[in-house]
Amino acid sequence: MKLCIAYYSPGENTQKLAFSVAGKLPHLSPVLVDLEYESLPTDCDHYLIGFGVRRNACPMQVLESLALLPPSRVAFFVTAALGKNDAYEALLTRQIQAFLPEHTALLGLHQCAGALSQEGRAYFEDQLRTLNQPELYEKVVRECYGHPDENDIQSLIAFCRVWLEEENT
Ligand SMILES: Cc1cc2nc3c(=O)[nH]c(=O)nc-3n(C[C@H](O)[C@H](O)[C@H](O)COP(=O)(O)O)c2cc1C
Repeated sequence: MKLCIAYYSPGENTQKLAFSVAGKLPHLSPVLVDLEYESLPTDCDHYLIGFGVRRNACPMQVLESLALLPPSRVAFFVTAALGKNDAYEALLTRQIQAFLPEHTALLGLHQCAGALSQEGRAYFEDQLRTLNQPELYEKVVRECYGHPDENDIQSLIAFCRVWLEEENT
């Protein structure tokens, strides 16, 4: 069984999760791929693909990369300042499904909070200026600070173990 862990992570939050998960699965020797600079390999059985949400969307670089996927099982992990929420899960799953080749099986999408970079703060400040809700901005910045943390890493590993174990039963 060959596993690829790919990430698109200009702010390095999602990359941190990718490295941590890869470190916890040494027996699988996962192939690590940075989608900012590399393409998805076409010879894996499982793909774990991560990204940080930008402007309420999955980055186009990630969506376009999915065309290369061979018949395989594919799971996603996501970091976002707003953290885990059902509305994002539904929205992102719809975006991903529109680009996933039919010969792949979507295993699920795991979400966690990711701290804001300078650019991310500027984006939220801008959004909230138009909405006139500065207290909401404060809350977002406060609550995502320090994420992804050790709990986020453990919960992503637990998510992966579920479908990796399914494979072996
Ligand atoms: C330009 C920009 C837009 C963003 N838009 C959103 C957004 O719509 N919703 C959200 O929850 N977080 C948003 N964020 C925060 C990122 O999703 C979060 O910081 C994420 O962890 C970044 O991932 P990365 O560090 O792996 O690149 C945005 C960040 C940037 C820089």
